[in-house]
Amino acid sequence: MLQGKPQGGLMHIARAQQFDTAFIEQLFAIADTIEQKALRMNGLILGSLFYEPSLRTRWSFESAMHRLGGAVISTEDAKIFSSAAKGETLEDTIRVAGKYVDIIALRHYDDHAMEQAMEVARIPLINAGCGRNQHPTQALLDLHTIKKRFGRTEELHVALAGDLENGRTVHSLAYLLGKYRGNRLILVSPPELRMPQGVKDYLERHDVQWREVLTLEEIAEEVDVIYQTRVQRERFSDEAAYERLKDSYRIDAALVSRMRETAVIMHPLPRNSEIARDVDEMPNAAYLDDQIESGVAIRKALLLMVAGRA
Ligand code: NCD
Repeated sequence: MLQGKPQGGLMHIARAQQFDTAFIEQLFAIADTIEQKALRMNGLILGSLFYEPSLRTRWSFESAMHRLGGAVISTEDAKIFSSAAKGETLEDTIRVAGKYVDIIALRHYDDHAMEQAMEVARIPLINAGCGRNQHPTQALLDLHTIKKRFGRTEELHVALAGDLENGRTVHSLAYLLGKYRGNRLILVSPPELRMPQGVKDYLERHDVQWREVLTLEEIAEEVDVIYQTRVQRERFSDEAAYERLKDSYRIDAALVSRMRETAVIMHPLPRNSEIARDVDEMPNAAYLDDQIESGVAIRKALLLMVAGRA
C-alpha cells in the first residue's frame, strides 16, 4: 500500500519514504507485464512541467505516456516559458494546469516545490526531481535495475558516490534501499559533500549498516554496486569550490577490473568526467541501457497506477 495516500484517492508520487515494499513489488510487477496485459492510458493527458533542464526524465515520462496511447502537453523550461516569468506562483500554475491535464510530472529547482504543489493539486502529481531534495521515480527505476541484475533488492552492498549532499537521486535511493533487509551502504564523498544528516538518521532508524569513506579505491573490491553521481555544479554558490571538487571521483576500466565480476556500475546521468568512456561497453555498466529501459517501464507503471488504470 502507498502510505500517506491523501483522502479522496489522489495518489501523488512525492518522496521515496512514502512507498512500502509491497507497493514497490506491485509497481515492478506492473512494469514487467504491461505489454502482456495491454494496459493503456488512452484518453488521458500528461503535463510535463519542468522548471529545470532535463532530457532523460522528461522524455522517458513522455515516451512512456505516448507508448501507452496517452497524450502529452509539455514545457521544457517552465522558468522561462510559463507565467512564472510573469510572477505567477507555482500554486496558481498547478491549479490551472490541472484543468488541462490529468497528471502532472513536476521538476523544480526549489527543495519544497513538491509540498507546495501538493497543497493545491486536484490531480495526481509526480515528483520528477525537486531541488536538492528527492527524485523518487529515478530511485524506483534504479532499484528496478538492481532487481533485474541481482534478482533481489536485499542483502546488497551498495556504494553511493560523488555529490551526496546535493544529489537528489542518492537521497531517494538511500531511502529505498533502507527499506530492505540486510542492505549495507557505503557513502563515498569528499567531506564537503557528505550525505545529509536526515538521510543518515533514516538509515539508523531502519538498522541499515552504513559507513563513510573518502575513496572508491578502498571499497571497489567489496561492493555489488557503485552508484556514481555528478558533482552538482548548479547547486554551488562558490565556483572555486566546484572546480576543486568536480573531479573527486573517476571510475575507469582499471577500477572496474578490480571489482567483483557481477558488480554493477550505475549513474543517473548526465555524466561529466566521473565515469571514463572505456567503462561503457563493459558488462558491468548499467547506465546507458538497463537504467534507461527501466526508466520507461517504471514510469509507464507509475502513470498507470496514479491514473487507477493498473
Ligand atoms: C539527475 C537529476 O536531475 O537529479 N538526472 C536525472 O534525472 N537522471 C542527476 C543529475 O542531474 O546529476
